[in-house]
Amino acid sequence: MCGIVGYIGDKEAYPIIINGLKRLEYRGYDSAGVAIVDKRTKIYKKKGKVNELEKLVYNKDVSGNIGIGHTRWATHGEPNDVNAHPHTSENGHFTVIHNGIIENYSRLKKRLEDRGYNFVSKTDTEVLANLIEFIYIKGKGEIDAEQAVRLALSKVIGAYGIVIIAKDEPDKLIAARKGSPLVIGIGEGEYFIASDATPIIEHTDSVIYLNNDNVAVIKKDQLTLKTIGNDKREPLIQKLSMDIGSIEKNGYDHFMLKEIFEQPKSITDTFRGRIAADLSEIRLGGLHEVMPKLENAKRILIIACGTSWHAGLVAEYLIETIARIPVEVEYGSEFRYRKPIIYKDDVIIAISQSGETADTLAAINIAKEAGATVVGICNVVGSSIPRETHAGVYTHAGPEIGVASTKAFTAQVTVLTMIAILLGKNNNKISEKKYLEYIKELTDIPSKVEEILKSDSLIKEISALYKNASNFLYLGRGYLFPVALEGALKLKEISYIHAEGYPAAEMKHGPIALIDENMPVVVIATQDNSYDKIVSNIQEVKARNGKVIAIVTEGDTVIKDLADHVIEVPKSHEAIAPLLTVIPLQLLSYHIAVMRDCNVDQPRNLAKSVTVE
Ligand code: AGP
Ligand code: GLU
Repeated sequence: MCGIVGYIGDKEAYPIIINGLKRLEYRGYDSAGVAIVDKRTKIYKKKGKVNELEKLVYNKDVSGNIGIGHTRWATHGEPNDVNAHPHTSENGHFTVIHNGIIENYSRLKKRLEDRGYNFVSKTDTEVLANLIEFIYIKGKGEIDAEQAVRLALSKVIGAYGIVIIAKDEPDKLIAARKGSPLVIGIGEGEYFIASDATPIIEHTDSVIYLNNDNVAVIKKDQLTLKTIGNDKREPLIQKLSMDIGSIEKNGYDHFMLKEIFEQPKSITDTFRGRIAADLSEIRLGGLHEVMPKLENAKRILIIACGTSWHAGLVAEYLIETIARIPVEVEYGSEFRYRKPIIYKDDVIIAISQSGETADTLAAINIAKEAGATVVGICNVVGSSIPRETHAGVYTHAGPEIGVASTKAFTAQVTVLTMIAILLGKNNNKISEKKYLEYIKELTDIPSKVEEILKSDSLIKEISALYKNASNFLYLGRGYLFPVALEGALKLKEISYIHAEGYPAAEMKHGPIALIDENMPVVVIATQDNSYDKIVSNIQEVKARNGKVIAIVTEGDTVIKDLADHVIEVPKSHEAIAPLLTVIPLQLLSYHIAVMRDCNVDQPRNLAKSVTVE
């Protein structure tokens, strides 16, 4: 949610900031704004995407070597020019960009209003700007900008990543975080600040990830780090391993399409170094220390949101079937507020592409407080979740820019499949022979995905036939039920067509009433244990004139005769089928969205990572 960029050095700040905002636009695109410090602070902000801001700024003075920029995903106050960031305090002392939510903003606002402050926007951010200023002015020259920021933050409840310009100290930027991420890139006599590393990587690969409660005072040649409570901290400099090509479209029309087509490689990257070259074993170094806990867990609790939650549901089938350990899958948002029962010998697996999802993070903290072991499965290296968990596995899918998650999902499921197989083997729930068979199946996935991607033009043709449908139903059973949920979510989020995923057998308990000749029903029906049952479900749909698009195992003739369209995937073990069958569903939603003229990479109302609850 929300993109933040800052620059301080000898170069012109504006081009660096605007370029950075474009890279971060996937995090929010309700409005965009910049503040550039020269002799004075020049602020430009505009509702809409970064290109609207560029139009506004065209021919205006943007010179200056220090600046900040923001692309917003509105939480408080509608998306408009006034609510756009940066926000300046009433007397112009502080200019702030903010990612997150100030939860006690209305109480703070009331107090400031009582003391004569007026507010121009509806945002919580403006309250923070005025609070800092109020404290600064009250300090009567005895406190500096940094102290005012720290004192103000000690009164704030909520989540924030902020960067601040102080009028009286124009040679510095002040950055602070709690909950929402901030990364500082270190150049030669210059620093870059951003809410994730994507705008930084083209400038430097040396970075500092701010920790919670950290405040950094950044001059062009000096950085000091403290806690909000004024304790000094040593910055930990880390190397970024991202390459710039991974955040470009590389000739594809959209990031989403690029990311779908990248999956043979991203899945290979996920098991690279984790499956022995002779296919004799799986090694998950990141889990080494917690493996005994996992093996002896009475229960594994999986916590995630959205697509990552769907990956968790696949894992429930995998771990219960292969390793015979009970699994429960929870939404982070529900778990954190429902007084969950957590045992010390529970192992929690938190799944998150971004590693920043607020609800998942909060659930992790609850589980940790209860004494459970928490394992993270994340894509973004150095993000909050890997830093908050006891152990973990990175998915290594590379940066995912499309708001709709695709390659991150298959990478998550790949890791979870490896965990299930390893646990099954270590706990003697599967034989050595079976273990080796599974490993072989895993390593065959990339070439099978490659095969499926060849159906792209067929899927495009099918998409053209159904692009105007008002509703879609997605059905699957067993391992493929979560895939149905994921297919429906993909369609909803990028094409705005209402879609529902259902366990196929549940259809007759309600959704069957929706079926008529206008209802496309996507049935994931590869040959597994419940094949005959799902063939019956297809019959039920056809008997009511529904249109069936079936994802089938190659060579299937039975469903070919029944369904209106079939999309084939190579044969695999049923535990592996989610990784294959989800690919046509990603392509189907992509093509339908493109044909409906939707903004595939930046769907309305959404943001890539939801760092507020
Ligand atoms: C997926 O397409 C979504 N945009 C969304 O559901 C996402 O999976 C969810 O917000 C969780 O994000 P995370 O994996 O970064 O925690
Ligand atoms: N809460 C702030 C707002 O609504 C920041 C939102 C964001 O993270 O973009 O303006």
